[in-house]
Amino acid sequence: MTLEVIILAAGKGTRMRSKLPKVLHPLANKPMLQHVIDTAQALEPTKIHVVVGHGADQVKETVQSDVNWVYQAEQKGTGHAVAQAMPDVAASSTVLVLYGDVPLTKTSTLEKLVKSCGENCYSLLTVNLENPTGYGRIVRDATNNVQRIVEQKDANEAELTICEVNTGIAAGKAADLAKWLPQLNANNAQGEYYLTDLTAMAVAEGYTIAVEQPSEVIEADGVNSRTQLNTLERAYQRQQAETLMANGASLADANRIDVRGTLTTGQDVSIDVNCVFEGTVSIGDDVEIGPNCLIMNSSIASGTVIKANSVLEDATVGENCDIGPFARLRPGTALANKAKIGNFVETKKANIGEGSKVNHLSYIGDATIGKGVNVGAGTITCNYDGVNKFKTEMADGVFIGSNSSLVAPVSIGENATVGAGSTITGNVSADQLAVARGKQRNIDGWPRPSKKQKQD
Ligand code: UD1
Ligand code: CA
Repeated sequence: MTLEVIILAAGKGTRMRSKLPKVLHPLANKPMLQHVIDTAQALEPTKIHVVVGHGADQVKETVQSDVNWVYQAEQKGTGHAVAQAMPDVAASSTVLVLYGDVPLTKTSTLEKLVKSCGENCYSLLTVNLENPTGYGRIVRDATNNVQRIVEQKDANEAELTICEVNTGIAAGKAADLAKWLPQLNANNAQGEYYLTDLTAMAVAEGYTIAVEQPSEVIEADGVNSRTQLNTLERAYQRQQAETLMANGASLADANRIDVRGTLTTGQDVSIDVNCVFEGTVSIGDDVEIGPNCLIMNSSIASGTVIKANSVLEDATVGENCDIGPFARLRPGTALANKAKIGNFVETKKANIGEGSKVNHLSYIGDATIGKGVNVGAGTITCNYDGVNKFKTEMADGVFIGSNSSLVAPVSIGENATVGAGSTITGNVSADQLAVARGKQRNIDGWPRPSKKQKQD
């Protein structure tokens, strides 16, 4: 059996009150439609068709996936939307219909649904809701077989009390869809071609309607408003937190961590409140992360401690390092084992060797620092002349006195020392002391300027 997926994403999403097409609104920093495409891809279909309309160009540009884009110029309903994709679908395929605004359906749930769709069968994913308002209702007969779906706006009072609702997600044979879709009409409360009407057509042909249900209701939740999007965001974050804890991480508060990408953690990791992880982040065993840290696309090896309010981006951190509080590791920072980056230190494109320390108020950019180096408080690598960037090198065992400026390109040799307050513009050789500052003069009995007494 070959599978093709059709994702409906042409709607406007008026209730979002946004310039951004609804399906591009992010969940965990990724467009909702991208979540749906990624889930579809995991099913390994032969093709994914995405029906776009509102903001089509922007959607295509943002979601750069290898899919077949189908343009629906006018949004005439879900049945009409699926029909637009059918000319590109092979007659022998099974078709799975997904919605661009239903981002959290699990691949395993969809696998079950597709599997249930055999010959002479049409499959629906349904859920039971305490409050079914707004959804299409699943109408069953006396023997509990599905008869049809009735939309909220077309339902009578008895039908409105039905709590089993249509998620919209369905699977059928392409040949059947190709036969039924042209038979749809728009004689209903919304004047639309409803995909849901296929259910009654299938029943009329004596087909079985197979019904699957997801293990959690949020898998079927659609987003029409920012409130609903936020509900899904929190549910998704809670799931990620549960996964982290199951894998051996302790969270100070499972409701105050956000993972916007992929976070892998070793054992006995502890993460304090309000930490945000973006992109791909990996954390080794026994790492401790303090409150309010933002960590993007970085790897942190075991035993490292990151204290409060630190920001790491595209950084590689070795074992047993000590970072923060208030440290900022910018792209291209690589710390060897046991390195220390203290408060109000910014690093960028910096290789910092084993056991080296940059403890206070420094900027280290375009620099290579050897082992056992001590960079004093307030040291700045002057790496930029307004146009070009230059490199600073510090060999093993270097000691830089506080408040020094190292004007790159410059290199400081092994075990060399720079006196506090120096502006270093030339290379320093191994074991030398470089002092580059105004010599101190002491003047005896210096009369400090005094204010004149005011006369009245
Ligand atoms: C639809 C179902 C309803 C179900 C609900 C679940 C129909 C007629 N109704 O209703 O039974 O309970 O979903 O969320 O199918 N779209 C297009 N082109 C169109 C119309 C819609 O691409 O012409 C897309 C929308 O962008 C959206 C999806 O299809 O992603 C669903 O459309 P929407 O108008 O939200 O359908 P509902 O009224 O919610
Ligand atoms: Ca909807």
